[in-house]
Amino acid sequence: MDWGLQNRLSRIIQPEDGRTVMLAVDHGYFLGPISKLERPRETIAPLLPYTNAVMLTRGILRTCIDPNTSVPIVLRVSGGNSIIGEDLSREGITTCVEEAIRLNVCAMSLSIYVGAKYEHQTLMNFAHLVDEGQRYGIPCLAVTAVGKELEKRDARFLALACRIAAELGAHFVKTYYCDDFEKVVQGCPVPLVIAGGPRLETIYDVFILAHDAIARGAIGVDMGRNVWQAEHPVAAIRAIRAVVHEGATAEQAAKLFDDIKAGKA
Ligand code: 5RP
Repeated sequence: MDWGLQNRLSRIIQPEDGRTVMLAVDHGYFLGPISKLERPRETIAPLLPYTNAVMLTRGILRTCIDPNTSVPIVLRVSGGNSIIGEDLSREGITTCVEEAIRLNVCAMSLSIYVGAKYEHQTLMNFAHLVDEGQRYGIPCLAVTAVGKELEKRDARFLALACRIAAELGAHFVKTYYCDDFEKVVQGCPVPLVIAGGPRLETIYDVFILAHDAIARGAIGVDMGRNVWQAEHPVAAIRAIRAVVHEGATAEQAAKLFDDIKAGKA
């Protein structure tokens, strides 16, 4: 791996333990101002000290993130659709590699829609992005998107999507946790991080999700709604950090969460 590319990747995936806690705040690119992300600056700022990288679009980066930050940026570069549009899979590349360089990002991310109407278009988008990333030393993160079909998130589908992403040259992949997650990990020769998905019933469920994903081979999380839509987002991300970086169990994370809430940690 070229030095620049490896250096960027190592700012996201911590060399000390090979793990990462990424914060996803890119949802507005097709969902608009969803709950708790109406004013991104206010949502993001308190969480930044506890994240290893933040994933977002250039618009939110420029308007809502202090350029003095040292937190690595993962730039979402796919879009061109909306939740009320014809088909969520109909994405293009929304910017160019020069913009990614100008913004000093550590990776570019793009959704692939395996099995969807515009599958081919999104896979070719990703292949093109990898070529551009390789040229300038910028790692590419593939997001195995499922659109509105959340029930698609099983091991057979995700293993297929993650493997295709890796075959096209992904440096790491964002996917969902599922039963038999080991099968997804085994079939994918590059590191996997998991999304949180729509808000889970309890914060304890989030800690279980993070714990089980790490135990079964994910190298980290790239979570959004289950962090910033939680009742106590800072306590939530700090407890998730303990799971990812310190090997905490879900129970230990829940205890830490309660202690942070109570001002005891
Ligand atoms: C959709 C995305 C997101 O916009 C986002 O990153 C998902 O994060 P979460 O599910 O944890 O809210 O990648 O494909």
